[in-house]
Amino acid sequence: MARDIKIVGVVGLGTMGAGIVEVFAKAGLQVVAVDGTPELADRGRGFLTRSLDRAVSRGKLEAATRDEIVGRVTFADQLTRLSGADLVIEAVPERMEIKNDIFATLDGIIAEDAILASNTSSLSLTEIAAHTRHPSRVIGMHFFNPAPVLALVEVITTLFTDDELSGAIRSLAERLGKQPVVVSDRAGFVANALLITYLARAIRTYETGHVSREDLDNAGKLGIGLPMGPLTLCDLIGLDVIKEVCDVLYNATHDPAAAPPALLTQMVIAGRLGRKTGRGFYTYEKSGSGVVTDAPEPVAIGAAATSIAVVGAGEVAADLVKRLESTGASVTALDDPTRDTSTLAGVPVVMLTGGPHGGADCGHEGDCTCEEDATGAWFSEIATAIDRTAIVVPTDDQCGWIIAEHLESDTPVVPARLHVATRTGQIAEVASGLDTDPSAVSTVDATLRAAGLTTIVARDRAGLVVDALLYPHLNAAVQMLDSGYASATDIDTAMTAGCGYPKGPFAMIDEIGADEVAAGLARMHGETNEQALAPAPLLIEHAVAAKPFLG
Ligand code: 3HC
Repeated sequence: MARDIKIVGVVGLGTMGAGIVEVFAKAGLQVVAVDGTPELADRGRGFLTRSLDRAVSRGKLEAATRDEIVGRVTFADQLTRLSGADLVIEAVPERMEIKNDIFATLDGIIAEDAILASNTSSLSLTEIAAHTRHPSRVIGMHFFNPAPVLALVEVITTLFTDDELSGAIRSLAERLGKQPVVVSDRAGFVANALLITYLARAIRTYETGHVSREDLDNAGKLGIGLPMGPLTLCDLIGLDVIKEVCDVLYNATHDPAAAPPALLTQMVIAGRLGRKTGRGFYTYEKSGSGVVTDAPEPVAIGAAATSIAVVGAGEVAADLVKRLESTGASVTALDDPTRDTSTLAGVPVVMLTGGPHGGADCGHEGDCTCEEDATGAWFSEIATAIDRTAIVVPTDDQCGWIIAEHLESDTPVVPARLHVATRTGQIAEVASGLDTDPSAVSTVDATLRAAGLTTIVARDRAGLVVDALLYPHLNAAVQMLDSGYASATDIDTAMTAGCGYPKGPFAMIDEIGADEVAAGLARMHGETNEQALAPAPLLIEHAVAAKPFLG
């Protein structure tokens, strides 16, 4: 028999609870919203009215509709007010004893056939259910922050759950305009297991001091194309929540990649929980605000070069030449072995974007000809023509480096990585090594900035920042698929609908190429020997078979 869910109770009116109230009330359901004290219930009412008022002021909602939505919600401070609910969803802090207490009380209040749902982001639903009188009516309904905006609802089933209940909750989620993904009970479910380990890695990267806060965020937002940089997202979610999920993931898996970074633990102890306390990785104008008030972390910015050579052919080289010319700089483009290399003499910055692509197959991308034929001789000619004091910027791991290897040992080399544009911008990463003169790094940084690219300056490590964040994240998605927990489509839906990704991990791998991702991971793994960086066997299989994950 199809369930008729008309009245919904929500317990716990923090950020998530209040957002869930808004979602249900907007979908036309009656809501009883309960928190522990009259003050907390009032705070919940404030969250709801502020969110709806904002929508009215932006012209997204009629004032009359706002009033109807608010009119569907009753705020209360007693669980007994939930006696008439068809479904109660709890969104209280992530502590098993609190959840168990609430569920035990609700067991004695709600009707026998009413459903008990939990918005837990990480705790075991099986354990929550097992502590109740009727475990078969307990289910997970995991929303994503901000709940009114993000479409994902993870529906978590346990060994007690029957198909009728999971089907009813799936239909309810669809009625709310959400995208449900039904999965079994595993630490972190789909989205948090992937997202929180990605965020933990970002925090660990920040902790090293190898990259600034803003550059790290730009790597996620502009480099990968995600809606927010990782540290900004940590502040939105709440560092206490991230730590709780890390703890649960680590306890379940003992995977060092999921362990809470020391800095995260310290920030939680210090009460720097993110936007909700007004301070996390960033400082905000007040608690609950998203307006950052502190200045960007300082980075040394030098003067842009006014004379630059770009050696190499292809789209990257052509784009770079165009960008640099638009700054008014004098640009020497050398894209063909027949060109006279003496034009490089006296040019203070030489960018190497790969060889002129002539057709012989050396295994490099784009039919590169590098040292495998006569072009190799041209490469050493270039190296000889470059001034000893010129800053040389290899921009790929292939031909650029082959030229760089021909240089005199004291020629300053500053590797850079030019990324393809995402929907939010285009990144150039500039690597700084132990031997690199900082002024050479800042000249390259300034020159690429002047050319309209957003730069990231980071220590010279495999994957620099963008790939070092993205590739392990993609690898974890492949491992999850290989473990049989969720399909590639469900994983992609979880990350697009739950975290606003423009495309899911498998769509990303298919676009980049499984071979490229596996090779990038292998380089990172070679440098650190970190287990999470070893390319997943299924990724290697796809790379070898040149078979996409989707379609
Ligand atoms: N409540 C209601 N609506 C909100 C909102 C909120 N808290 N925050 C933003 N919005 C609405 C805005 O009103 C706007 O609506 P409109 O398009 O109709 O005008 C829309 O969302 C876009 O907002 P903005 O223009 O202000 O800003 P952005 O375009 O940058 O979007 C964002 C903001 C939706 C937060 C987007 O950056 C995003 O999707 N970020 C990723 C968030 C994410 O990953 N969440 C998942 C966290 S993990 C989780 O929650 C699980 C938990 O268990 C840990």
